[in-house]
Amino acid sequence: MPYDQAVSDIPVGRSARRIPILIDCDTGIDDSLALLYAVASPECELVAVTCSAGNVDARQVAENTRAILELVGRSDVEVAIGRETPLARALVTTPETHGPRGIGYAELPPARMPLSARFSSDLIVEEARRRPGELTLVTLAPLTNVALAVLREPELPRLLRRLVIMGGSYRSPGNTAPTTEWNVSVDPEAAKLVFEAWAPIGSAVAGSDVAGPVAFARPIALGLDVTERAKFLPEHLAALAARAGCAPDGSIAGGAASDMPGVNPVVRYLADALRFYMEFHSRYDHFYGAFIHDPLALATALDQTLVRTEAVTVDVELSGRLTTGETVADWRRVWGRPPNLDVAIEVEVARFMARFIERVGDLAAGLAG
Ligand code: RIB
Ligand code: CA
Repeated sequence: MPYDQAVSDIPVGRSARRIPILIDCDTGIDDSLALLYAVASPECELVAVTCSAGNVDARQVAENTRAILELVGRSDVEVAIGRETPLARALVTTPETHGPRGIGYAELPPARMPLSARFSSDLIVEEARRRPGELTLVTLAPLTNVALAVLREPELPRLLRRLVIMGGSYRSPGNTAPTTEWNVSVDPEAAKLVFEAWAPIGSAVAGSDVAGPVAFARPIALGLDVTERAKFLPEHLAALAARAGCAPDGSIAGGAASDMPGVNPVVRYLADALRFYMEFHSRYDHFYGAFIHDPLALATALDQTLVRTEAVTVDVELSGRLTTGETVADWRRVWGRPPNLDVAIEVEVARFMARFIERVGDLAAGLAG
């Protein structure tokens, strides 16, 4: 059922305390929840969004991303598209996980805001050069755009304040092949290139245990080890809906049907998108709920106290008959190479979930039809 048009754009105030964030996503249902969380977070300055192919093709990602931002009144945010296939292999998408259009059973009005004229990897490089040391790049998708950006600008690790990656699985089973995670498995060459680009070259890394000139911070990598602890359940949606002042299906008190004016467009979207996602998890992961990988990564970029990390050297398998795309973590340091990732090994999931419900619930309440 189509939604009412979003309310007019929300004037975006600017405060010095805000954290400038670039998001790269493959919207996708959990990507869309991360976008909602970013818009709902007062400390987040959403600088731009770049789109990668992954859950669905890149053009559908760009459509979904703009439609979600318009739903919550943020058509001011620049949205760009980039390379539409992985670096060295054919694109594989996952309609069974996110639906044929990437947003489950939800329907959104066609995006009206234009796509950026900039190519995604160019946007990342240009914004990093324009604001050296300020931007946090949060990747929620295959790393195709980031790989192209670092090929164009080898100094990207120093120009960015931080890179936060949702991707990989460092001590847990995979969700794509037995040992591989989706974002890395779609474009393993890109992931390998990015992990190598952030590897310290003879110089120390902030927080490393090797003396030497500080180069740049290691990326924070949130793998399935922690993101699969973020289980969004029907009761979480009910709590979010209540905070927004409506029933879990988005209808306003009084049992209004979804096509009546009394529907909260954000809650209705969440209900329809998550119903598809929860049905998928019920079949594949044997619980009726949803791993919300991407919002956890975004929330961590805004508040790193949500996770505990360990520095480790990680490489990516490219030619394993059974393991191509596996993120291989050298926990025992047998390779003798300096660590290149800060891998999240613990997460305060209750604190994250409460914050997600509060912020997105309040965002929805502010947009009630
Ligand atoms: O493996 C989970 C990741 O793959 C998430 O980013 C999800 O959106 C999919 O892209
Ligand atoms: Ca994603």
